Amino acid sequence: MSPEPPPENQSAAPLFRTDQLPAIRRVMVPQDTNAMGTIFGGAILSDIDLAAAICAHRHHAGKVVTVAMDKVEFKKPVFVGDVMTIFAETLSVGTTSISVKTTVFAERALCMGRPTLVTEAQVTMVAVNEDFKPVPIERPKQ
Ligand SMILES: CC(C)(COP(=O)(O)OP(=O)(O)OC[C@H]1O[C@@H](n2cnc3c(N)ncnc32)[C@H](O)[C@@H]1OP(=O)(O)O)[C@@H](O)C(=O)NCCC(=O)NCCS
Repeated sequence: MSPEPPPENQSAAPLFRTDQLPAIRRVMVPQDTNAMGTIFGGAILSDIDLAAAICAHRHHAGKVVTVAMDKVEFKKPVFVGDVMTIFAETLSVGTTSISVKTTVFAERALCMGRPTLVTEAQVTMVAVNEDFKPVPIERPKQ
């Protein structure tokens, strides 16, 4: 049986921006769980990585790879049936790198609950060439 979500402080709900397009939004399923039945941190990190890559591709048309994940903070657990939403925003664009802030929310029990801030992370993506060497950021053609 899935663990029951604990009662929680809803103060993070106002941070959930319904006027912003999330990078990723999906229902968490049993395949995402750890041995305790809650959502495995690695599953969340995997989606954070994808969200950061989507954000980085707004700035660079070619390949990007993840060089660092910093300040990862798992603030609250995520449960099977929660709808997870990841927002990704650009913090800075360097010569070859793009720094992205990701913010992860869970809406409990298929959106029956208000959004809860569950995880935050800063991700640095690097533009690379065919040999996986860093190359200057090149804006996608409009
Ligand atoms: C990413 C990679 C190509 C960078 O190569 P590198 O020789 O270290 O590159 P550089 O030292 O020239 O740094 C490139 C950029 O990354 C930034 N960077 C490097 N290490 C960083 C770190 N730990 N944290 C934040 N930024 C970092 C540099 O500041 C630089 O940014 P800038 O050009 O905008 O100033 C190399 O480390 C790599 O291939 N890593 C493996 C990537 C990977 O497989 N990721 C997982 C799957 S996507």
